[in-house]
Amino acid sequence: MKIIKVTNELELSKTAGEMIAGKVRSNPEIVLGLATGGTPVGTYKYMIEDHKTNGTSYSKVSTVNLDEYIGLQKSNPNSYYSFMKETLFDHIDINQENTFIPDGNASDLEAECANYEKRIAELGGVDLQLLGIGRNGHIAFNEPGTSFDSRTQVVPLTKETIEDNARFFSSREEVPTKAISMGIQTILESKEIILLATGKSKADAMSKLINGEVTEDFPASALQKHSNVTIIADEEALSLV
Ligand code: GLP
Repeated sequence: MKIIKVTNELELSKTAGEMIAGKVRSNPEIVLGLATGGTPVGTYKYMIEDHKTNGTSYSKVSTVNLDEYIGLQKSNPNSYYSFMKETLFDHIDINQENTFIPDGNASDLEAECANYEKRIAELGGVDLQLLGIGRNGHIAFNEPGTSFDSRTQVVPLTKETIEDNARFFSSREEVPTKAISMGIQTILESKEIILLATGKSKADAMSKLINGEVTEDFPASALQKHSNVTIIADEEALSLV
């Protein structure tokens, strides 16, 4: 794993945003895997700025998101559908028909998961996957104990993840308890991965990710099995490494 240590969030966003924009410029038809959460917001901001000032075009890019809550309407500001539109898609020249997010309201959720995997395969797989990390080591919504062989599936969220994500909702009770998430195997099949982390609250997880054992009890440790992972993290997140 390549580790890039940055001094603050702005530098993290610039570093990650420039890496992604550079890949888009050299491969205009790239398939990007995108993440939600607070950490990538600055990176998306950088990409929007770069699109406006340098003209990096996303018109032929396709995107697949890692996950979506089950039971939130698309119009709910906390759905990852709304998050992606507001944070990125509405501000760049991407054809939104080429942006894919699991449908957390599908009447047949199992079929939706299978279709999502099919969609990724039809796109030729993910070229570059952006990831964040949960305090408990989750990637996408793959909580501790998830099989490394997992593919897109319906997953329950742990108490810790619900509490961490409650800050985006008006109350803890509103946070969905389940999600559709790309599986760990799905993520490992991306050709390249960039993982972002900031802040002290991620320090323990980052130390386990970089120096800990590879175990299904710590989902992010699966990334040690991948040959092209870049970690971009600030000093606080790397303080225990
Ligand atoms: C959510 C997302 C993850 C994300 C994690 C960390 O649970 N499903 O993909 O990595 O939150 O979020 P944050 O960046 O807000 O710390």
